[in-house]
Amino acid sequence: MLSINLNIDEKFESLKDGMDYSYLINGNWEKSSSGKTIPIRNPYNKEIIAQIQACTREEVDNCIKIARDSMECWVETPLSKRIEILRKSARLMREMAEPLGNILMQEIGKPIKSAISEIMRTADIFEGTADFATSIGGETIMGDAFEGTARDKLSITYRVPLGVILCIGPFNYPFNLTGSKIAPALVAGNTVIMKPPSFGAITPLHFGIFLEEAGVPPGVFNIITGRGSEIGDYLTGHSGINMVAFTGSSETGIHLSKVAGMKPLLLELGGKDAAIVLDDADLEITVNSIISGAFSFSGQRCTAVKRVLPMPGIADKLIERVVEETKNLSIGDPAENNTIGPLITSKQCDYVQGLIDDALQKGATLKCGNRREGNIMWPTVLDHVTTEMRVAWEEPFGPVLPFIRIQNAEQAIKISNESMYGLQGMIFTENIDLAFNIAQELEVGTVQINGKSSRGPDHFPFLGTKSSGLGTQGIKCSIESMSRPKVVVMNLTEKGKLIRECGVYEK
Ligand code: G3H
Repeated sequence: MLSINLNIDEKFESLKDGMDYSYLINGNWEKSSSGKTIPIRNPYNKEIIAQIQACTREEVDNCIKIARDSMECWVETPLSKRIEILRKSARLMREMAEPLGNILMQEIGKPIKSAISEIMRTADIFEGTADFATSIGGETIMGDAFEGTARDKLSITYRVPLGVILCIGPFNYPFNLTGSKIAPALVAGNTVIMKPPSFGAITPLHFGIFLEEAGVPPGVFNIITGRGSEIGDYLTGHSGINMVAFTGSSETGIHLSKVAGMKPLLLELGGKDAAIVLDDADLEITVNSIISGAFSFSGQRCTAVKRVLPMPGIADKLIERVVEETKNLSIGDPAENNTIGPLITSKQCDYVQGLIDDALQKGATLKCGNRREGNIMWPTVLDHVTTEMRVAWEEPFGPVLPFIRIQNAEQAIKISNESMYGLQGMIFTENIDLAFNIAQELEVGTVQINGKSSRGPDHFPFLGTKSSGLGTQGIKCSIESMSRPKVVVMNLTEKGKLIRECGVYEK
């Protein structure tokens, strides 16, 4: 167990033994009995920067047992104390944002400024969750609102935790999208098992330090590491887990939903967000939104702009300006804060290249890009993409932007809705009435009018339809998803009844 006399910098160091990081069970950082570790490589230079424990199923069982045994203590901890713990954790994250951002940059190749802001944004989510939690309440309903029932029956509804929540984050926001699950889970009174992604595992291990320092008792927050392919299904299907909150690919999410059985699920999955650009759109707002939406973190975001559907009156000038700005994007080392850096694996680069090759073979026009060095893919813009091409439908998770020229709004709605995904949509126009009407037709969780698709601000509801997800995130919605109503019905008897003069409505 870590000594409480160490300061937080020293605690960061004590998480590891040389390059080997431990997992966390009941407040203790341990090595797996498997004796096996998983190497973590910097995707930019491919160097091994750390190793994580490949935990066994027996260790999963132990972790879940500890989390279950800790439920009673945590649910008895006053909400005000849980709130205070989130606030303290947020302060610690802010203090350590730079060194932690540096680790994040190395393990996933995120530009350093974005890596640091991912840590700060997570601190904001913890703080925002603490703020919202102060107003978690319930309701009382009198029976006489329903025909045939009187005021001698009333329900008192409040919220209770679900039990043990399994939080699995993705490689692209391994700290933030795990933290956005941990904070609501803990504040609602659940205990947590965190399973970090294998790519991006190191940064979220530090939640163990922050939460312990902030006062979370041992056993309430535990971390299991290992390959999803080896322990993912076992964890998800385990009878000791009461809910699974997962962010990752649609393929994995759909698979987990089959393994999970009757457990409640919160799934944030893939997307193929389309930007519909009408003739009267403000060109500069549209170009800026498309560039930052498509190419931030090299397109490795579920909410990235993944296709553009421009009307004939604006298509040529829009594509020209987008290509001009794309060519200006800086490319290279994430430590130098270049916009375009490495993709997470060379396998992912191969996949993106396959989409580009398919489009070019089928007649798309290459406007820029289509170059690769190591894991870096140059930002690629494709014009004259048709619905016969894979890139019109598949999610690249890389810097490739297809333009599918459209003739009218109806065609744009059709192409948008034919996707298997339904995360977000965008409409760029000055005609707000028309935008509102198109928005109502789009089968997505959120429609952005004159702005890029994105999850934040983090207190907004965030959800996907179809293969893009299940359940709703966002600070308030996540707390609600991670708790359930408990209803107590009072049945009052004649004994305490007050005698009333007025009997007009008596039966
Ligand atoms: O990758 C999925 C994330 O939820 C996207 O978040 O819109 O803040 O980049 P973001």
